[in-house]
Amino acid sequence: MIKRRDFLRASSLASAGLVFGAPSILSAAAKSAPSDELRIGFIGCGKQHEVLFNAMKDIPGLRFAAVCDIMKYRVGSSASRIKSLFDYVPNRYLHVEDMLSKETDLDAVFVATPDFWHAPHTVMALEAGFNVYCEKMMSNTIEGARSMVQAMDRSGKLCQIGHQRRSNPRYLFALDYLINGEKICGQIVNVNGQWNRAVNASQDINVKESILPDEQTLLQYGFANGADKKLSLAELRHRFLNWRTYKALSGGPISDLGAHQIDIFNWFLGTQPKSVMASGGRNYFKDREHFDNVMCIFEYDTPSGGARAFYQVLTTTSAGGGYFESFMGTEGTVEISEREAYTNVFRESGSSRNWDGLVDRGILTKVASGQAPGGADAIAAYESAPPDKYAFPGGLSKPPHQPHIENFIAAIRGKAKLNCDARHALESEAPIYWVNQSAETQTTIHFTPEHLHT
Ligand SMILES: NC(=O)c1ccc[n+]([C@@H]2O[C@H](COP(=O)([O-])OP(=O)(O)OC[C@H]3O[C@@H](n4cnc5c(N)ncnc54)[C@H](O)[C@@H]3O)[C@@H](O)[C@H]2O)c1
Repeated sequence: MIKRRDFLRASSLASAGLVFGAPSILSAAAKSAPSDELRIGFIGCGKQHEVLFNAMKDIPGLRFAAVCDIMKYRVGSSASRIKSLFDYVPNRYLHVEDMLSKETDLDAVFVATPDFWHAPHTVMALEAGFNVYCEKMMSNTIEGARSMVQAMDRSGKLCQIGHQRRSNPRYLFALDYLINGEKICGQIVNVNGQWNRAVNASQDINVKESILPDEQTLLQYGFANGADKKLSLAELRHRFLNWRTYKALSGGPISDLGAHQIDIFNWFLGTQPKSVMASGGRNYFKDREHFDNVMCIFEYDTPSGGARAFYQVLTTTSAGGGYFESFMGTEGTVEISEREAYTNVFRESGSSRNWDGLVDRGILTKVASGQAPGGADAIAAYESAPPDKYAFPGGLSKPPHQPHIENFIAAIRGKAKLNCDARHALESEAPIYWVNQSAETQTTIHFTPEHLHT
């Protein structure tokens, strides 16, 4: 009988230092001399910058050397956070070009600006000779994303895209061990994923006007892009804060939220879809340029006979279990989420395979047996017995962004390969760029190499 510890020792996860215990990068960095210190710069110091900073502040061997944002207030907040934790003040910039030309000894730049700025910022930073970690979605256009792949190739620098689930120990365990290793799903015929968010979590963002950039700065930095009239200052400010709802600035909910999960569909199935059929509407947030709800179906050719994946992003309800991706096979289902509470494994009642061995080896924990169908309202002849429910082993949860950043840092130090470089990210993101068009035109888009190439 293989004990879980033995499995982990043998598995690729454990050899990558990614599960159960300190990742290899931590021990490597902890031993690094000051000369090995990596100097980090940040472009875009909004909400996600704070999340990324919190996920990396405890990684040894990093010096947070420079911060840049067109909002002076956020440059100040970010610098204060760094000062209070590390007792030094990073260099502060309002313009990216200034930072990239003056900070010549940076080792890496983190880009967390609005999506329409990702491609220009990433290309500029790569061309200036820096490794880049850029947030998802790569860009608001597929051409922008392609330019990032080209710049990565031209520069020879590393470019990690912030699809952080790709380094999440729970996702790696699900894919490498449960699905591909133990093949516990059997034949995966369907995939189902969603991000459902309530109205109150989908509201416009507002901040004090006094901390916003002035009109000239907002115009200079493209926040009027796509407008068909001269904008008032209030309209311009709305676009700056709520860039996710404007077509020229973002791909909308299917790209902002769907990017995470459709990436998992393609990564786990190991291929790109062959078509997408989508429907979307502005049924509640009627003044927004983007759809407030989108439902779509991707079709895949897979070695086992094909699969169909449904995805929905809803911004007007949290019903239906929040956000998860579910890989549904003939023998079992792996339902996975960044939230551990939404992560489950189900064994089909009719499965020929006994899972007791997986439980004995500590691979899964049995949570509940499916109850036999029955009761006055059951249509017994057609009803299948509910599946048994299992849970993942403990110890696989880390703060969501930390392992992905650790992987990037380890790659800079030559100790790992990137888990999601720009090329792999674009292969996986490419179908997403076509969902809005499918919904707008109410047509199925059958992908050709031109739609999906990097
Ligand atoms: N991986 C994830 O789970 C995750 C979660 C949330 C957001 N994100 C991504 O992070 C990015 C930022 O999102 P956010 O929520 O922090 O947005 P935000 O609007 O809060 O922050 C963006 C910041 O960029 C600054 N900025 C805008 N244009 C700039 C420019 N030209 N030069 C320098 N600074 C500029 C703004 O002033 C702002 O401070 C987005 O791409 C988003 O999709 C990823």
